[in-house]
This record gives sequence, structure tokens and C-alpha cells, in this order.
Amino acid sequence: MILVTGGTGLVGAHLLWQLVQEEIPVRATYRDIRRLERVRRVFSYYTAQGDGFFEKIHWVEADINDLMALESAFDQVSQVYHCAAMISFDPGDFRQLRKVNAEGTANVVNLCLSRQVQKLCYASSIATIGKPLNDAPATEEDYGPDRQRNVYALSKLSAEMEVWRGAQEGLPVVIVNPGIILGPGFWQGASGRIFGIAARGPSYAPPGGSGFVGVGDVVQIMVQLMQSSIVNERFIVVAEQLSYRELLGMMAREFNKKGPAKTLPLWGLEILWRLDWLRCLFGGGRRKLTKSNVASLKHPTLYVNGKIKEALQYSFEPLKESIIASCRHYDREHRKLSD
Ligand SMILES: NC(=O)c1ccc[n+]([C@@H]2O[C@H](COP(=O)([O-])OP(=O)(O)OC[C@H]3O[C@@H](n4cnc5c(N)ncnc54)[C@H](OP(=O)(O)O)[C@@H]3O)[C@@H](O)[C@H]2O)c1
Repeated sequence: MILVTGGTGLVGAHLLWQLVQEEIPVRATYRDIRRLERVRRVFSYYTAQGDGFFEKIHWVEADINDLMALESAFDQVSQVYHCAAMISFDPGDFRQLRKVNAEGTANVVNLCLSRQVQKLCYASSIATIGKPLNDAPATEEDYGPDRQRNVYALSKLSAEMEVWRGAQEGLPVVIVNPGIILGPGFWQGASGRIFGIAARGPSYAPPGGSGFVGVGDVVQIMVQLMQSSIVNERFIVVAEQLSYRELLGMMAREFNKKGPAKTLPLWGLEILWRLDWLRCLFGGGRRKLTKSNVASLKHPTLYVNGKIKEALQYSFEPLKESIIASCRHYDREHRKLSD
């Protein structure tokens, strides 16, 4: 039995699609039964017979901070894909991020050890890859410290440390460190919101850029790593490095809109994050822009993806193709809503 935590998220849902193609039984965790519909929708992107594949999944309700519930999900499990996590860059969420990402991952690792699971794959992030001090491109060897640590990055780094602790105690592990993941179905999610912004034809783009990758590449790499003899390694999973202006331009063109004509000046963002802080201080609500977000735009990091390409002889799908496919799903679903 294979266990996937966070089965109702972007990575979890697309990963489940990959796994149900194989003959091994799959169990997945969820927290809210209404979210299972999202997984059905993701399956419908791949085939008209999505429901048949969806029925193959054994669903278990489990919060990763609820040890009792999580224990029952581990019955007869030989491999675990740990994709459940909280994504937020709001400093006000730091405690909750630590609880879910660090303590939750510790629970997953401890159960893997006590149940003698054969291998764990952890979905980490490029947020845990440090920026080399000489501004050279970053590799898997770079753990920081860097100038742009944000609350999300700190919680994911603590989670990765739990996974390495598991490896020290005898659990075979692989860690993937994806860039910003682009894929269809989760339009309100951390990375999914970019499609909505592009669909409106933005006039401005933020400065800087990042490493991006299609969700299809992320889940294929996770499965191939788990099926390989590779253990106790981490891998940067980035297909291409783009500026936000290039990315929004590519997406906007798919929506027949103009791409951003201008890049926001950094001084403007310096003012905006302070205004956002004041808005939250007096009006409440979540932070949309933080000091560390702006700092990371000032000093973008370049990521080297050679290790995973060599280890699996892997070729990434051109990002343009992942973007075109996702934009088509976005367009179809949003046109249906407005009809
Ligand atoms: N999206 C990106 O651009 C990106 C980039 C790099 C790395 N990653 C990493 O990839 C992994 C998957 O990300 P994603 O994009 O799939 O995120 P997502 O769409 O937000 O999904 C997160 C999943 O985790 C579940 N979850 C959250 N808190 C939980 C808890 N306390 N107990 C159990 N389940 C919980 C969510 O359940 P609900 O549906 O109930 O909320 C959901 O299934 C994460 O580790 C993330 O850090 C993501």
C-alpha cells in the first residue's frame, strides 16, 4: 500500500493520478470531504473515465497533527509520499506553519520509522535552498543562511531537518525541492492564483523572477525517484527560470490578453509592503506582501537542475506547454462559470 498525505492539494491530486495507473493500492489523506471533488476534477483533465480511477483510492480522514488519525492511515503502508503542508508567507502564521510543516512532518517521519516503511518521498521546496554568498547559482548543497528567509521557508527547512533525522535513524528518504509549481485545478492555491492574475491582463509585473516547473514533471520525478534505488538525496526540481514579467506575458497571451508592459519599481514595492503591514495592523486580515517577499524580488536566486536530470536521465516538459495546458483548463472552467 502506498500512502499520499495531502491528497486534496495540487501536487497530491496530480500524484494520485500517476499512482492509480499502477496496480499497487493507494491510500490518501484528506481533511474535508468536500475537497475530494477537486481530485475528481483533476482526474477528469486526464480522462473521461476519471471516476473509475478515483474510486480506486482508499481515502482516510487525517490531519497530520492528529497522531491517532494519522496512525490508522499507516496500516500496511510500504511507501509514503508526504505532500501535506501549509503554504503561507504571512509572518502572523509562523506558529501554525511550524505546527503543520515541522511538527506534522515529524509525526509522518516517526510513523514511517515505527511502521518500518520502505521509503519516504518528501515534497519540500526551493525555499529551503540557500543563496550562495558569492551569488553563484544555487545547488542542493546550499542550505543557507540567506538574506531572504521567510516564515514559510523556515518551516519547510525545519520539516526537511525532520526528514534528514528520519534518514539518520534508518528510514530511506528522497526529497524534492520544486520551484513554483504550475498546474491546473487549484486556481485559488498559492501558485494557482497566478493564472487568475494573468487572465485579467495585468499592466504591471513584479520585478525579479523564480524557478518554475509543471506539476506533471514534479509528480513524475517523485514517482521515478521512489521506484529507483536512490536514497537520502535531495533534488532541485525546476524546469526553467523566468522573470515574473515573462511568465505573466506567456500566460496572458494564452488568454488573448496583453502581457504586462512595465515592471513595478522596487521602491514602489518597498512602500506597498509597509502599507500592507499597516492595513493588517489596523484592519486585520492576512498579509499579501511582506518585507521578505520584497527582499527575495531584489535578490533572485538561480537554481541548477542538473542533479535530477542526471540521476533519472530526465527531460523536463517545456514550461510553455505546461502553461498552455493549464490556461486552457482555466479558460474552460471560468467560461462555464460566467455562462
Ligand atoms: N504549489 C507550489 O508552488 C509549491 C512549490 C514548491 C513546493 N511545494 C510543496 O509541495 C507540497 C504540496 O503543495 P501543493 O501546491 O499541493 O499545496 P496545496 O494545494 O495547498 O495542498 C496542500 C495539501 O496539504 C493538506 N494539508 C494542509 N494542512 C494539513 C494538515 N494539518 N493535515 C493534513 N493535511 C493538510 C491540504 O488539505 P486541504 O485540502 O484540506 O486544505 C492539501 O491537501 C507542499 O509541501 C508544498 O510546500 C509547493
